[in-house]
Amino acid sequence: MGALQGGGGARPLPRLLLLCAACVGMARAGNWMYLGVVGVTPLLPQGDQEVQNVSTSSAVSICQHLPGLVQQQVAVCQSNPDTIKSVSAGARRGINECQYQFRNERWNCTTGVDLDVPFGYTLKRGSKETAFIYAVTSAGVVHAVTQACSSGNLTDCSCDMSKQGLSTPEGWKWGGCSDNLRFGIQFARQFVDAPEKERHKKFKRVRNLMNLHNNEAGREAISRLMKMQCRCHGVSGSCELKTCWRSIPTFSAVGDYLKDKYNGARQYKRKKRSRSSRRRDRSRGRRKRRSRRNRRFPVGKDELVHIHKSPNYCVKDPKKGILGTYGRYCNKTSRGADSCDLLCCGRGYNTQVVRYVERCHCKFVWCCYVKCKTCVTNVDVHTCK
Ligand SMILES: *[C@@H]1O[C@H](CO)[C@@H](O)[C@H](O)[C@H]1NC(C)=O
Ligand SMILES: *[C@@H]1O[C@H](CO)[C@@H](O)[C@H](O)[C@H]1NC(C)=O
Ligand SMILES: *[C@@H]1O[C@H](CO)[C@@H](O)[C@H](O)[C@H]1NC(C)=O
Ligand SMILES: *[C@@H]1O[C@H](CO)[C@@H](O)[C@H](O)[C@H]1NC(C)=O
Repeated sequence: MGALQGGGGARPLPRLLLLCAACVGMARAGNWMYLGVVGVTPLLPQGDQEVQNVSTSSAVSICQHLPGLVQQQVAVCQSNPDTIKSVSAGARRGINECQYQFRNERWNCTTGVDLDVPFGYTLKRGSKETAFIYAVTSAGVVHAVTQACSSGNLTDCSCDMSKQGLSTPEGWKWGGCSDNLRFGIQFARQFVDAPEKERHKKFKRVRNLMNLHNNEAGREAISRLMKMQCRCHGVSGSCELKTCWRSIPTFSAVGDYLKDKYNGARQYKRKKRSRSSRRRDRSRGRRKRRSRRNRRFPVGKDELVHIHKSPNYCVKDPKKGILGTYGRYCNKTSRGADSCDLLCCGRGYNTQVVRYVERCHCKFVWCCYVKCKTCVTNVDVHTCK
């Protein structure tokens, strides 16, 4: 069990106002996830072969060419420059999985038009969707870095050999290349968590604790889904000797797992204190009041946590980064989230007949060509009003 620490109490207002000029810049500055949308290559100085080669030591400067990283991320990047491509690939993997998992829902995990700030306002909303994005991109980085380790693409890590030669509980031998989850997780903790930790240090906001918790939940998902794979050795297919290794789950399994956690996400609510309890607190003194405020919120390490409710995502609201569901394809016979009823928020739908022309009933004719008929099918396509 982990715990989300309750808020650090009220901040003096004038200071907050002063800092808010910096708030906007801060939000942009710390969002490393854009690396998954943009990729690393376009950010490098074009035609500079030395810098293009990520594994050379001079490529340390790559890390300074990447905008939007906080100081610790630049430092982590500089100490293992070849991992930055895995970070980008991992974020990409997370974003793709998010879009797959939410393809049928009102919020479909669009990254939006601003490439620098993927997900736009959704990343700041503090809702279940925010929680999912943090968890899935964090898991993506662990996944990509760990796989890169095992395939020998990174200089700082390789397979996990720590169990080599030991026996499994079933009496088989550990061998082969176990995926190096420990390296992947440590790396992701240092890189992905850095902006949130930095901001939490400065502002003591529950928001950053939420993000940190969900980052960890993403890593935990991979950890819990690790599996043992074995191979038999022996004469003519017998299984006299069996070697086993630990392997990382497929990323779609991670996506399914996290989607499940999204459905059961827990909302953290700051306890509202009644007037009488405030009066009681005052008489009990300051120390008691503090401990009351910081009451812990018990929640599993693998659970997603959010602090705000989700909007219904039905109606377009560009300011809040909500696309609305106008024009989305819906399924008339489905009873799930993609049903016309739910997806169109009760506004109804338009129906179009789409004509598909296909080659069909193909036959092989001696010798040597294929003869087909043309089939025409009409399909009703429904889109939300
Ligand atoms: C990149 O640098 C490494 C180490 O110096 C070298 O082995 C490799 O051949 C280089 N790759 C390219 C494409 O230049
Ligand atoms: C390892 O590097 C090769 C060559 O750059 C690339 O094609 C491959 O996808 C990488 N594998 C992983 C798991 O990152
Ligand atoms: C999400 O839905 C919007 C319409 O609301 C559509 O324009 C967009 O292509 C969809 N994005 C994905 C990733 O499916
Ligand atoms: C619509 O939903 C039904 C029931 O869930 C499903 O069998 C069907 O394949 C779906 N149609 C499309 C076009 O996705």
